[in-house]
Amino acid sequence: MNKTLKAVLFVALIAQAARVGGATPAIIPKPTKITAGDGAFQITPKTKVLYTAGDSMLADAAGYLAGRLSLALGEKITAAPSNSAPASGAILLTATQADAKLGPEGYSLTVARNGVIIRAPKPAGAFYGGITLLQLAPPAAFRAPAMVEGVLGGKQTVKPPRPCDEPNIPTARPVSSLTVPCVTIVDKPRFQWRGLLIDPARHFWTIDELKQYVDYMALHKLNSLQIHLTDHQNWCPEILKRPALTPDKKRNADDPERLAKQTYHKPARRYYTQKELKSLVAFATKRFVNIVPEFEMPGHSAAFLRGCPECGCTVEGKLMRGGEVCPGKEKTYKILQGMLDEMLEVFPSKYIHIGADECSKRYWRKCADCKKRMEAEGIKDVTQLHGYFVGRMSKYLQTKSRTLVGWDEILESGAKAGAVGMYWRSGRADKHVEMASKNGQYLVMSPTAHCYFDYVQSPDRKSEPQGFGRSVITLRRTYELEPMPDYIKQTNPKLVLGVQANLWGERMKSFPHILYMTYPRACALSEAGWSAPEGRSYAGFHARLLKHLKRLDAAGVNYRQPTDIDKPK
Ligand code: ACM
Ligand code: ZN
Repeated sequence: MNKTLKAVLFVALIAQAARVGGATPAIIPKPTKITAGDGAFQITPKTKVLYTAGDSMLADAAGYLAGRLSLALGEKITAAPSNSAPASGAILLTATQADAKLGPEGYSLTVARNGVIIRAPKPAGAFYGGITLLQLAPPAAFRAPAMVEGVLGGKQTVKPPRPCDEPNIPTARPVSSLTVPCVTIVDKPRFQWRGLLIDPARHFWTIDELKQYVDYMALHKLNSLQIHLTDHQNWCPEILKRPALTPDKKRNADDPERLAKQTYHKPARRYYTQKELKSLVAFATKRFVNIVPEFEMPGHSAAFLRGCPECGCTVEGKLMRGGEVCPGKEKTYKILQGMLDEMLEVFPSKYIHIGADECSKRYWRKCADCKKRMEAEGIKDVTQLHGYFVGRMSKYLQTKSRTLVGWDEILESGAKAGAVGMYWRSGRADKHVEMASKNGQYLVMSPTAHCYFDYVQSPDRKSEPQGFGRSVITLRRTYELEPMPDYIKQTNPKLVLGVQANLWGERMKSFPHILYMTYPRACALSEAGWSAPEGRSYAGFHARLLKHLKRLDAAGVNYRQPTDIDKPK
């Protein structure tokens, strides 16, 4: 090799070493475009986090980033407004000169040796630019205090019965600086709805636990948490007009002594005050996560009927409890809509989920009021009666400027465009989804075959905590979710709002357990919802994930360690 060639190679090697350790950064979800630069930027306790003044949500985005950097560096960093050109050594979040084509959640991020600029048309994009910056830094950037029993810094009072119940207690200590490689990233999500569902109606989670869950979602650019607040087993939200729905309240469940004895296996109480729910919404809003409340109706309603028995069907002169409300009685609508009126004050979400799945319609055929209603409205069968009920609730929500969401049963019973259908019955509901798309109906894709996080993650059942049913949803299976059916792609792809995975609560026993079931599959889901399909590969994801797990360790996220079955083929 001649001398000149040697010199050129040497320079190239130095430049390579200065880049991201010679490799593409392990960002999850995978960004649209990464261009590596030379050198690095040091984040230290002296680094300023600045944002252009005037937008309170941009201040939230900057505040969150500053808060995480403070945890990592062990010294308080505050975000400050600034309208002058950023001083050298600062991290700036701004909408100035942002490319409008990046949309409401997109951003560009430039890390140079002398500073970082995140430009985003809207604050959500700036927030996600901040999350990417944290992932460019070493795993310590995800450092957070120990979390036990769902309460930050809390004490563990019972021995975890199974390995999956053990919290992943972070041991990382604060670092003096974070080295971030110089890079330019331009990024925006593929879908606007990137969600998870959690189910406190089956196993109650405290508000602190829900907040912790939301925080971990934000670190993965997941932006929608559906909370299954009601079911046969329990009605969780306090309704001031209907105290009978939360009988726990009467039993003095807020007694400090009972609360002190609460463990993550035995919550002292199983309802949320409206104040607590509002505090959750405020916490999530600062992390750009929308809380979608789900109030099950007309099915999955045994707990509702325990508190409001007058909404049951009437068979042979007797009020029946069962699991479904009576769609024949006018008072059913009055009471449910009155309940919604209160809840709409708590939940600002545009989308309000009414479930409407798995409704057996057990008494509807025999009920005097249902029969009367069907005759008066020219309804032929109980499936149409289900459609009538959903239609009325949808119209009611529209008068309040909200949009009804329901599981794909609402598509089967004839919900009109204007309501969003959530696809879950893989295969069985395909024809309803296709028909709904022809009617211009919006959809969220949450197929059982990829998105049910209460199913075990490995066929090796001996090593896994019990999951729901016999099915297995591996990490790869979640990753392989392609949310866009071909027939919608060719006609109107905008109809698919996005993706969601559901963690039903029947088999969940502890907060570490729900994290174990959620991660790392939620990392795969985040990529299915965010990243462009052309650049996605399971092998690439798996390689990045192995690095990402160190971040989860630093943040205290419990997760299932991938094994041989998860390796790319
Ligand atoms: C569902 O899993 N019943 C939506
Ligand atoms: Zn009835």
